[in-house]
Amino acid sequence: PRKGAAMPTIPAISEHLGETLATIHRDAVARPVQGRLADYIPALAVVVPSQCGIAVATLDGEVAAAGDAETAFSIQSISKVFSLVLSMQRMGASLWSRVGMEPSGQPFNSIVQLEWEHGIPRNPFINAGAILVADTLVAHFSASRPAFLGFLRKLSGNERLMVNEEVLASESLHGSRNAALAHLMKSFGNLEAEVGQVLDHYFFQCSVEMNCTDLARSLLFLANRGTQPSSGEVVCSQRDAHRVNAILSTSGMYDQSGQFAFSVGLPAKSGVGGGIVAIVPGYGVIAAWSPPLNAHGNSSTALWMITRLAGKLGLSIY
Ligand code: DON
Repeated sequence: PRKGAAMPTIPAISEHLGETLATIHRDAVARPVQGRLADYIPALAVVVPSQCGIAVATLDGEVAAAGDAETAFSIQSISKVFSLVLSMQRMGASLWSRVGMEPSGQPFNSIVQLEWEHGIPRNPFINAGAILVADTLVAHFSASRPAFLGFLRKLSGNERLMVNEEVLASESLHGSRNAALAHLMKSFGNLEAEVGQVLDHYFFQCSVEMNCTDLARSLLFLANRGTQPSSGEVVCSQRDAHRVNAILSTSGMYDQSGQFAFSVGLPAKSGVGGGIVAIVPGYGVIAAWSPPLNAHGNSSTALWMITRLAGKLGLSIY
């Protein structure tokens, strides 16, 4: 290595990580609340906004946490990471002729680009792309919803993971924009299944509830070249883990992905439930949660906590 370019040392969890998280959490909740709850889905507008938690799971099986890290919340768009991995397992290279890998630069639920680009969504993390991925799951599984939930239960080791039925009903009732995206893709011949079935799956996956600890544990395989460290199970190939992390780096935070890469430098995914997960390759996974969102639909406080932690420990991949 170049002189003066020593790699930062990431503290082992047993040393100071628990204390570091406690300090970051304390400072985070002392800040004035920034942002607004997601209110386009009424069931998300009624959560307690002051809730805040953070957890870090490492490849050696340890977990450190602070605040409301055991409180389950709506994973929303974080579900798009799991559905993409499940779809990549089944579709192989053919998936990439139906969805792209470029950042969209548009809000997560934008419609305009999809028509210009003939019903091929820019990437699997904007809503159009995630609905396309949901279509592949509906087409490949006889029962895609239990298959999806079973996948999350196995990855997290938490058999009690459930869907929040109230959020699910609310999503379906207020899902006209997602329905518009799905119909537009269907009109271009890029959806195989019926629009109603695809949306049912998509709303279901968004309505699963997990806590920070569950989320951090369940995504460890992405920090470990595709293999879940606790079980040794190969969830995806090393190449696919690389690909998922690459698209997370460029598109996981929607139209704030560039700024997130600039300031934090980790593959990450947010959801409008207020959760953000960040992958630290070779080390572990950070999951942070607090409901109020900034203008990009990303949790302001979770973003602040992850930025602090990554800066303090020197976690950037760049
Ligand atoms: O598609 C929707 O409207 C939601 N169920 C999920 C969107 C979401 O979480 C976007 N992320 N920030």
